[in-house]
Amino acid sequence: MSVEFSQEKLNKVAELISRYPAGKQKSAILPLLHLAQEEFGGWLDVPVMDYVATLLHIEPIEVYEVASFYSMYNLKPVGKYMFEVCQTGPCMLNGSDDIIAYIKEKLNIGVGETTADGLFTLKTVECLGACGYAPLMQMGKNYREHLTKEKVDSIIAECSNVASKNN
Ligand code: FES
Repeated sequence: MSVEFSQEKLNKVAELISRYPAGKQKSAILPLLHLAQEEFGGWLDVPVMDYVATLLHIEPIEVYEVASFYSMYNLKPVGKYMFEVCQTGPCMLNGSDDIIAYIKEKLNIGVGETTADGLFTLKTVECLGACGYAPLMQMGKNYREHLTKEKVDSIIAECSNVASKNN
């Protein structure tokens, strides 16, 4: 896989960097990592992080440090659907432990793992800032709220149906 943004994405990179004062281009690292993750298969391989470092004129280690700190960046391949279940206090008090255990059992994977068919990845994350809807998880750009085992069943079925239609 060649690690290079399209011209359109490079224009976006330039626009993101231009939002910061001269000499502070490093501040664009978070949006650039999002862009790179979206563009290069949903995760940040080392060559991808090195490419981001080149674009920002910084050392690769600076990119590795940021990418490995935040849970929204994936450092290994992930499934088509990623369940990021919140495990912080309010979600935990509302049953997130049971939800996580149920997803593990249902998909036969552990936290941080992906199903053999490459469809689902389970992650646990800290507060998603929507505690009033606990327990919840993020799935792509959406939240799935007030989770129950039945809701988990229907989300998994819904994803599997979409995936089988697209095959
Ligand atoms: Fe789960 Fe805040 S604790 S969203």
